[in-house]
Parts: sequence; C-alpha cells; structure tokens
Amino acid sequence: MARLAIITGTSSGIGAALAERLLGEGWQVFGLSRRPVELPAPYQHLTCDLADPAVPQQLASRLAAELAFNEYSHLALVNNAATPGQRRRFGDLSAAETFRNMAINLAAPMALMNLVAELRPANAMLRVVNVSTGLAYRPLPGLADYCASKAGLHMAGEVLAAEDHGDMAVLSYAPGIVATEMQTTLRGETAKDFPSVDVFRAMHEENRLLAANQVLEPIVAFMLDASRRGFYQQRHGE
Ligand SMILES: NC(=O)c1ccc[n+]([C@@H]2O[C@H](COP(=O)([O-])OP(=O)(O)OC[C@H]3O[C@@H](n4cnc5c(N)ncnc54)[C@H](OP(=O)(O)O)[C@@H]3O)[C@@H](O)[C@H]2O)c1
Repeated sequence: MARLAIITGTSSGIGAALAERLLGEGWQVFGLSRRPVELPAPYQHLTCDLADPAVPQQLASRLAAELAFNEYSHLALVNNAATPGQRRRFGDLSAAETFRNMAINLAAPMALMNLVAELRPANAMLRVVNVSTGLAYRPLPGLADYCASKAGLHMAGEVLAAEDHGDMAVLSYAPGIVATEMQTTLRGETAKDFPSVDVFRAMHEENRLLAANQVLEPIVAFMLDASRRGFYQQRHGE
C-alpha cells in the first residue's frame, strides 16, 4: 500500500530536504509553495500562496483522484511553510502584513489539518507534523506575528489530537537553528528596525546552525510510527 505525504514549503530549506528524503524512501509527496518545484515522480506540486483561502479546496481537488484510485496505509501532513513575519516592534507593524502572516503561519495549516481529517482514507494512519520553534513559547522583541502564530499552531495541533480521529497523532516539532533562507532573512535586518537581529547574527557567528537534512529524523520516524496516538512535542536533539 502507498504512503502519501503533503508537505508545505518544499521550495527551500527543511521542506525541500524532507521532500527529497521521503521520495527516496518510497513516499508519494505532494508539495506546496509559491515557487514551482521540480522533483522526480511521484512528486506533485501545487504552486500557490498559502495566504489564499482557496488553497485547501484546490489541494482537495488535486488529491481526489489519488485518494480514490490508490490504497494508502499512511497519510501525513507536514505543516512546514512559514514566514518569519515582519521583524518590527509593535507600533511599527502593518495591519495588512499581520493578517497575511497569521494566514500563512496559522490559518492555512489549520485549514490543511481540517482537510486531512476530512479526506483521510478509512484505513490509513494519519500523522500531522507542525513545524514549530522555541519562539512559540519565548517572546522575542520584534517577532510578534511569528511567535504568536507558532504558539497558535502548537495549540491547534493539541486540539486536533484531543479529538477522536482514530489512528491519528500530532507532533509539534521544533527543529533547532537551521541554515535556511529564513535565517538569512532574519540576520539581514538592521538593529534599528529589528531589535532582536543580534540574536540571529550571534548564532550564525558561533556556527550553531544545522543543515536542513540534519533535522529530519524525528519527522520521518514519527510519520512511520504506528504506536503513536494523540499529541507529542519534541525539539531537535531530544
Ligand atoms: N530555520 C530555522 O532556524 C528554523 C527554526 C525553527 C523553526 N523553523 C521552521 O521551519 C519551517 C521551515 O522553514 P525554513 O527554515 O526551512 O525556511 P525557508 O527555507 O525560508 O522555507 C520556507 C518555505 O515556506 C514557503 N512559504 C513561505 N511563505 C509561503 C506562502 N505564502 N505560500 C506558500 N509557501 C510559502 C517557502 O516557499 P516559497 O517562498 O516558494 O513560497 C519555503 O518553501 C518553518 O515553519 C520555520 O518556522 C525554522
């Protein structure tokens, strides 16, 4: 029987590394991001902006035939895509950007959790991995929409896991500090605009960043683990 993974944010960083790894391990992968992605079959891609509320329905239409004509033992959703947000303190935030960032980092992942709960084939085990961060629990000045959206995502996963969805488990996974475009963006601000920029520059100067393919193991193991039920929380290295 087949295994299907839906991964958001497969055009760079952790999502790109995860898509390649799962394809290599026999998973069928469906990726989403604004930039197109070329990976070998059975990879499929939906080029989209996750801030668009039409995306879950577009994905449902693309998945309908797959789910109808194949038998799946595993269905996994990895809510990985995220924006680092505005990197500005309160008083300097754009309301439109706040709404957009919450849509990408929180509303879209929740809508995709709803979608997999609805579409999941009867006998498939369902695993949801929400890519989290230590900043879901630690306030960092200038990162309100990132910290708040990730705290919300953590709780949305807890609610999903508290419901009865049969063979279903949710992992809120903080991957550590990873050398991706997001870290480059965070380091690229001025201290005047973004009060926490030195935190990100220091981690880079101290060579504390991991490569994306070093942080995948807990995600892959969780997606395959038939013994899991309910909610789990893990940080890289634990
Ligand atoms: N890097 C770290 O140190 C670190 C630490 C803790 C947690 N994380 C988490 O790890 C996850 C992956 O981040 P990363 O570090 O791998 O960053 P990244 O390389 O910047 O990747 C972000 C991905 O999200 C996609 N994305 C962003 N906005 C989108 C939108 N509006 N619509 C569709 N896709 C969108 C991007 O694709 P497009 O640009 O093509 O749309 C890209 O594929 C995020 O949830 C992040 O919060 C990262």
